[in-house]
Amino acid sequence: MEDTLTKTNTITQEIIAGMKNTPKQLPSKYFYDEKGSQLFDEITELEEYYPTRTERMILEYYLDEMAEKLGDNIELIEPGSGSSEKTRILLDKMDSIRCYVPIDISGDYLFKVADQLQKEYPNIDIEPLEADYTRPFELPNTHPNARRIVFFPGSTIGNFKLNTVQRFFSVIADIVGKQGGVLIGVDLKKDINILEAAYNDSKGITAAFNKNMLVHLNRKIDANFDPDLFEHKALWVEEKGCIEMRLYATKSHSVQINGQVFQIEEGEYLHTENSHKYTQEEFSGIVAPWFEVEQVWTDKNELFSVQYLVPRV
Ligand code: AVI
Repeated sequence: MEDTLTKTNTITQEIIAGMKNTPKQLPSKYFYDEKGSQLFDEITELEEYYPTRTERMILEYYLDEMAEKLGDNIELIEPGSGSSEKTRILLDKMDSIRCYVPIDISGDYLFKVADQLQKEYPNIDIEPLEADYTRPFELPNTHPNARRIVFFPGSTIGNFKLNTVQRFFSVIADIVGKQGGVLIGVDLKKDINILEAAYNDSKGITAAFNKNMLVHLNRKIDANFDPDLFEHKALWVEEKGCIEMRLYATKSHSVQINGQVFQIEEGEYLHTENSHKYTQEEFSGIVAPWFEVEQVWTDKNELFSVQYLVPRV
């Protein structure tokens, strides 16, 4: 394990490298301190933010069909499990799940959630794993005959860069082997107005979420971003097929990071996140080296999809 000082240095270097980019970039993983996670939970409840409730509705509505597809004797693996909230929909109803492996980088919360789940689901073995799932990881080999199914809801895949998406599917293909599968939430391309409204909500929660990254970074490293000197804006970027989250400087000023000074001009922006949306053809093409899309479930307005992927043989 890296010690705290090495970790702080690594983050500082990462942030400095991003600030030297044009446009200046800050990695979206720094949204999620305690406050950021709380704000994200609030986002998922917003009228304009359709992904969470639509995915939940699809899971609930098509649960029986999904259970049939997933088959028997399942070890369910969830990278980035967090509160495991959506997984409960599966754990409640799918009696084919023998074992559930939630994986998260933040151990304390993971073990707390896992303890609670074990109490609620005594017939399922809950085996939490503290790991960074974007790197190769080892699973407990407690159910050698079970079929491994990776559950990856929330369209988190949309926040990854293409090379991270590719690395993710290659790691997952190794994990699930030839008999397994992947149940994944994928956000779909749609009317730009719906997309932009989802990321520029009228209550300003997404704006607070975006600016909170600066507060988080000030605490984490030696930096002095002033969130009050930025304005949130999210916009659809057609060429990239994603919503970009940005923080625009409302006046020219400088920020110091570990003694280095970065000038930010009025109207210049910090790029904090990409949220990719896909057509079915695009998504099938991305997973094609490892997986075939066997089934797609969607809502009647085709806002969001849950897809079942099987390994290519
Ligand atoms: C976590 N992720 C799928 C969210 C999204 O929609 O891309 C993060 C988010 N950013 C702004 N609002 C929500």
